Amino acid sequence: MPTQSAIKIAPSILSADFADFGREIQAIEAQGADWVHVDVMDGHFVPNLTFGPQLCKAIRRHIKTVMDVHLMISPVDTYIEAFAEAGADIITAHAEAGPHMHRTLQAIRATGKKAGLALNPGTPAEAAAPLLDLVDLICVMTVNPGFGGQKFLHSQIDKVRSLRAMIGGRPIHIEIDGGITPETAPLVTAAGADVLVAGSSVFSGGSVERPEIYGRNIRAIRAAVETVAV
Ligand code: DX5
Ligand code: ZN
Repeated sequence: MPTQSAIKIAPSILSADFADFGREIQAIEAQGADWVHVDVMDGHFVPNLTFGPQLCKAIRRHIKTVMDVHLMISPVDTYIEAFAEAGADIITAHAEAGPHMHRTLQAIRATGKKAGLALNPGTPAEAAAPLLDLVDLICVMTVNPGFGGQKFLHSQIDKVRSLRAMIGGRPIHIEIDGGITPETAPLVTAAGADVLVAGSSVFSGGSVERPEIYGRNIRAIRAAVETVAV
């Protein structure tokens, strides 16, 4: 189980102003974000479209922390090199995106980037078991992927607990994505998660003109997990 001080908060720029990514990223990092989470959607694997490697490359120079790229695309393999070249530090692909997840994770590792495996709410923890030696991060989706602002699925908490037990002493992050708020965050950190993606709950009420609201929102999540005993 990670210590509470190791909990990382990764705001998702899906909830940022799409016309002002550079300043939005500078604002969240200045206000305490640990990583920057970038949601790539293809309108096929998920029913929404966002952006591709060119946008990732353009925003990379604004990111001082970690660029955490969540690929909600299928196929995946043909685009791995492009996202690696765009400057991703972590590239996460979905177990459900294709039949050859083992190969996909090998391909991500081959670029020298950290490899993540995302599991949709309908996918069991056991899907990760044969892949543990190839992953640096497991992303547990606590909403169905595609949109920000959805309601947290409590049914996923047991999956987090199972994964943490399955991981044992391996250096693998468990990231939670979807519906994270000061209310839901402690439920997943207590179950073994150590990276919290948060879109609407970080950006809501703030702007690049009022970045202190981002800071307040980030600190509220951090304070909520720190009140839970390790
Ligand atoms: C959903 C995305 C999430 C999303 C989270 O498909 O992967 O990263 O932005 O948004 P919130 O925190 O608003 O649920
Ligand atoms: Zn995401």
